Amino acid sequence: MRPTLLRMGFPAQRPRRLRTTPAMRRLVSETEVRPRQLVLPMFVREGADAPVPISSMPGVVQHTRDTLRKAVAQAASAGVGGVMLFGVPEVHDATGSGAVDPDGILNVALRDVRAEVGDALVVMSDLCLDEFTDHGHCGVLDAEGGVDNDATLEIYARMGVEQARAGAHLVGPSGMMDGQVGVIRAALDEAGFTDTGILAYTAKYASAFYGPFREAVNSQLTGDRKSYQQDGGNAREALRELALDLDEGADMVMVKPALAYLDVLARVADVADVPVAAYQISGEYAMIEAAVEKGWLERERTILETLTSIRRAGADVVLTYWATEVATWLD
Ligand code: PBG
Repeated sequence: MRPTLLRMGFPAQRPRRLRTTPAMRRLVSETEVRPRQLVLPMFVREGADAPVPISSMPGVVQHTRDTLRKAVAQAASAGVGGVMLFGVPEVHDATGSGAVDPDGILNVALRDVRAEVGDALVVMSDLCLDEFTDHGHCGVLDAEGGVDNDATLEIYARMGVEQARAGAHLVGPSGMMDGQVGVIRAALDEAGFTDTGILAYTAKYASAFYGPFREAVNSQLTGDRKSYQQDGGNAREALRELALDLDEGADMVMVKPALAYLDVLARVADVADVPVAAYQISGEYAMIEAAVEKGWLERERTILETLTSIRRAGADVVLTYWATEVATWLD
């Protein structure tokens, strides 16, 4: 690095020259947020005859099958890159059987959405049991009440195949079970879905910011997910998870949450040789909407600043509940 001190007799270094006009700032801007890079997470509720508002996520709803189709079509016409679907079933049970049922809400919704938009955007599905189990954990439980890794993998494999059959372009295993990517890849290949990809939730931290999501999916969870999601203090461990997921055949990897883990995102993006996604989660959405509601933050500027920071840290793709709206601002 050259010295940056101002010294008499040398040309003065003045970075402000590149900030003088909007045209100059536009020319030298390093980081762009484009609609195609955004993915909209969406909730669809079984049996709903009208969209159900989620109070802790103002502006986000649990869709009916019908309003989901319309909202996905809207996202596609706004140029959004993809959607990530979450199912909210009417009935929960110990093994989350709604997840592997071809007529389960998530699988039905995937068919609806593909029928509506075809290949106009990338259709993704959350591959996890927590929305479907009566105890709210991401896997099935063993006799002691712990989450049984390998028994859960068998269900994930079947879930992945059903989601692929229903039309998912990418399935998104988010349960942080060891070996989940490999088992799902093998099952997809075995069933002939070699073109269905896996977006692995690679570094997923046990975060307080998931709070509003619990309301969004009517979660039944009483405890916590610390025996499978990562500890917030551990960054190096994310690289281990990355190596495993790549080894097992992940087509894309994700870091989650986004804003509180930008350092992890940057480290993962530095070494990953596949596209890297980051998930701006429910609590990140809620805290900005709440501050805006109080008149404490400017909405559009704040949202764009967070998305820019997530892109700058290295995300190729950003999951955000603001995807469709932001896409309309950017055009
Ligand atoms: C698990 C899953 C969760 C989220 C996405 N997938 C919940 C959790 O792990 O507790 C959270 C998304 C958000 O908070 O916006 N199926």
